Amino acid sequence: MADEKYETHEYDVIVIGAGGAGLRAAIEASAQGVRTALICKSLLGKAHTVMAEGGIAAALGNVYPEDNWQVHFRDTMRGGKMLNNWRMAQLHAQEAPARVVELEAWGALFDRTKDGRILQRDFGGHRYARLAHVGDRTGLEMIRTLQQHAVHKGIDVFMECTIVRLLKEGERACGAFGYWRETGRFVVFKAKAVVLATGGIGKAWKITSNSWEYTGDGHALAYGVGADLIDMEFVQFHPTGMVWPPSVRGILVTEGVRGDGGTLKNALGERFMFNYIPEFFRAETAETEAEADGWYTDKKKNRRTPDLLPRDEVARAIVAEIKAGRGSPHGGVFLDIASRRDPETIKRRLPSMYHQFKELADVDITKQPMEVGPTCHYAMGGVRVDADTTAATVPGLFAAGEVAGGMHGANRLGGNSLSDLVVFGRRAGLYAAEYAKRSPGSFTVDAGQLGAIARECLEPFERGGDENPYTVHRDLQECMQILVGIIRNEGELKKALEELAVLRERQGRVRVAGNRQYNPGWHLAMDLHSMLTVSEAVARAALERKESRGAHTREDYPRMDPTFGKVNVVVRRVGDAMSVSQEPLPQMPDDLRRLFEESK
Ligand code: FUM
Repeated sequence: MADEKYETHEYDVIVIGAGGAGLRAAIEASAQGVRTALICKSLLGKAHTVMAEGGIAAALGNVYPEDNWQVHFRDTMRGGKMLNNWRMAQLHAQEAPARVVELEAWGALFDRTKDGRILQRDFGGHRYARLAHVGDRTGLEMIRTLQQHAVHKGIDVFMECTIVRLLKEGERACGAFGYWRETGRFVVFKAKAVVLATGGIGKAWKITSNSWEYTGDGHALAYGVGADLIDMEFVQFHPTGMVWPPSVRGILVTEGVRGDGGTLKNALGERFMFNYIPEFFRAETAETEAEADGWYTDKKKNRRTPDLLPRDEVARAIVAEIKAGRGSPHGGVFLDIASRRDPETIKRRLPSMYHQFKELADVDITKQPMEVGPTCHYAMGGVRVDADTTAATVPGLFAAGEVAGGMHGANRLGGNSLSDLVVFGRRAGLYAAEYAKRSPGSFTVDAGQLGAIARECLEPFERGGDENPYTVHRDLQECMQILVGIIRNEGELKKALEELAVLRERQGRVRVAGNRQYNPGWHLAMDLHSMLTVSEAVARAALERKESRGAHTREDYPRMDPTFGKVNVVVRRVGDAMSVSQEPLPQMPDDLRRLFEESK
């Protein structure tokens, strides 16, 4: 009986991933009185959540009393080019303020307005300044707060444990199989409900803000047990990552720099964003520097500055400037805050950016401009979930945060990820706990299932292959960066799929030396399975969507096509093959649709 052979733990709910969504889900499940475990690949507290630096979006109305959930909902849908799951966007806009207040009650120390309320800052695509923040360390403060709360509640935490497969009993998810990174020994978690909160997929690209953990594990785990993935073609390139020196390329430069007055310039010193205002946002965007500067000073916000257009628009404009030969010396553009804000303000509002550039690039941002360029930051696509409950299409499986699809449509607005994490993290914990309470008591995990997974994991030690996992990873990143990057076309996407097939075959020949004790080469060999799965899903979905929308730009189909505006591209596993189909979006009810007509 394989259950006896492996270290085994049994819970009502297991949460895989301990960033903002995972922590919030575990807190909620535990509060519902079910036995809950939190499993993380890294040390607790190390999560991509901290890379949402500039703030958490919520229509608190502290800086602009005219802000409300309806405006936030409308901004989110328009930023997502109307492809968002409307119900998720509605719940998100309605519940975000309560989640921010809750964080504060749990100890998060937000920056304040002069009269002592939570201060809110501007970010791209948001009609009003609505990001509650802690300088430029908001994600960090959020993780600190949630982590302390979870630990205080006595939730069981399993750290440095990578989950490699989900387990099923019949049609339903019933646990997970993983290994301890330190010893390499296998571990089984039996559970009545499983919450995925594993974050993103950025490590499949060469230039990324994501750290080593973000290999698409949750996406691949869900796909592996037959769950639907949606919107995988939409991968967000944050417009501003560091470009120099090479060792730090891709590290995030918060949008808060532009939110606090920073402007983008090309090598000629021109504020080029004025040349890239899309029709979709023309009515709301300042068309001259004087207009934009007026916006910064009088804060009436009838017009927004083009530096704060949604991320997809800004990233494309930067790429166009670089291609036209107007880039900075190291292949980016300039981001200047020094000429617009005094050093004191910059250091107070953007302390991490100040230190990051000083320490890593020897640039003093209070005196000099930064060199920045797009960096792969966030996956809009992910596990298809029910908007209210976060239930995936496989019974017993739930997903929240970046691993879930639908909320952000074709492009996420900055600051909406932190609010997404806590709104849907809470919902995932709540509904997973309810599901667990309704589930029958005990169940067995098939021994054959476990043995087969273990054998597959150990193959890289045993086979006589000639491939090195690091080389395969490097070639995968190269392929995704060049062929499935910001600007795409049919020829390159087809080439990417051919290369991915070859990389898959090479992955089958990866051999690792040594033993199972802390062996990063072996860990990467297993991560390659997830990265290749999500890369194929992104490339196939991108080939299917023959239009340009949000973060998905096809130079061979440069316009939005209304037919594609009505569908999600769905990826699912059928046998051993990846199927891709188009399925209609859920219909938005009339009362919400009217919000868009009114704003015209
Ligand atoms: O630019 C930033 O601070 C990132 C925020 C986000 O991705 O939401």
